[in-house]
Amino acid sequence: MNRTNSIQAYKEAVQYIPGGVNSPVRALRSVDESPLFIQKARNAWLTDIDGNRYSDYCLSWGVFILGHAHPAVNRAVHKAIGHGTSYGIPSLPETELAKLVNRHFPSMEKVRFVNSGTEAVMSAVRLARGFTGRNLIVKFDGCYHGHADHLLVSAGSGAASLPTSFSAGVPKGFTAHTVSLPFNDRKAVSRFFRERGKGVAAVIVEPVPANMGVVLPQNDFLQHLRTLTKQADSLLIFDEVITGFRLSIGGAQQKWEIVPDLTTLGKIIGGGFPAAAFGGRSDIMALLAPDGPVYQAGTLSGNPIAMTAGIETINQLSHPDFYTDLAQKTTWFFNALADDIAHKDIRLNQTDSMFTLFFTGESVNSFADAKRTDTERFKRFFKHMLSRNIYISPSPFEANFLSSAHTEKELCHFLKAIKDFE
Ligand SMILES: Cc1ncc(COP(=O)(O)O)c(C=O)c1O
Repeated sequence: MNRTNSIQAYKEAVQYIPGGVNSPVRALRSVDESPLFIQKARNAWLTDIDGNRYSDYCLSWGVFILGHAHPAVNRAVHKAIGHGTSYGIPSLPETELAKLVNRHFPSMEKVRFVNSGTEAVMSAVRLARGFTGRNLIVKFDGCYHGHADHLLVSAGSGAASLPTSFSAGVPKGFTAHTVSLPFNDRKAVSRFFRERGKGVAAVIVEPVPANMGVVLPQNDFLQHLRTLTKQADSLLIFDEVITGFRLSIGGAQQKWEIVPDLTTLGKIIGGGFPAAAFGGRSDIMALLAPDGPVYQAGTLSGNPIAMTAGIETINQLSHPDFYTDLAQKTTWFFNALADDIAHKDIRLNQTDSMFTLFFTGESVNSFADAKRTDTERFKRFFKHMLSRNIYISPSPFEANFLSSAHTEKELCHFLKAIKDFE
């Protein structure tokens, strides 16, 4: 595979951009590769600037559940751009998207749009603290909630490869009110709430963590969090930046039938544009400026192009058969995949259209388990898949995604490639 142009482009990029990238995992350091530079993408395929094509299982980190460049989304966006690209004054698509969010996530009685998942989480946490008058935030090891200072504690995703569980540049005091506990450990959370529950403003959780790789909640863990937070008058925040519109049209909360107090959404909701949202109970959201004293704002928040892409994406997802068709395909794929890896010391963790292959013989239910994955073997796996024109998420601690645009042909190609991997 000739990657001369990408290698040259990277050499130039590092002269101007730290590490040559605008988000660390893209540098492909954890798989000892040089980044691909992408020229275009359509359906399930990426094309790099050397003309190589890859079937894509990263999908812009879970954004493209419809595949890249979906024609209906593109049409709507082109039309919207013709009207202008940002007003800094309210426009109708903001209310339209808020209504759609509320329809599918009834717990989000009020919604505010922002530009990234990081912003959504940061604002939800501020609101939770403002509402409860408490400071403590409980999160879980290996969950990633964006790069706000106070949440970079034992975080997953790219932060999992930091030399310590904290980021440099974050004063100790900024994380003094953040506690990280092991995911799926009911006892640890119960113990913590017995001792300090009355000081907890909120528990924030990825209901199905995807940033330590996909890990499923066990033994009613989410229900347990709901019960404990209610008892302690703390809030429960579901960070559904990945799971929202991915696990079902109503996200993990619909699937697990749990009503959080606040929810954050990102990725799919922007249809490939920078948009995210946080929302929840009206009495909590009422504290937000301009109605209340918790300040939050954004120049490009509710951007009409991003709102339009989100609206059209959700319209597509609302087709009655969308999720059943996707489930049919993913169930077939995951069954075949499970067979193919049966004797390879690889664990498949999957739900709906997202999955991770952990290179370990033991089941993975926490960050500590995930860290047992053989990272050297993962590197070889990534390179092997890339050589077969398959782009998977470039870290052992990330999720992979399927879209409605992946055809049986592409999925069979993936299965064949994994069969050939030793
Ligand atoms: C669960 C979760 N929350 C928050 C974020 C942060 O979102 P963003 O990268 O848009 O800031 C991410 C990003 O991957 C995420 O997966």
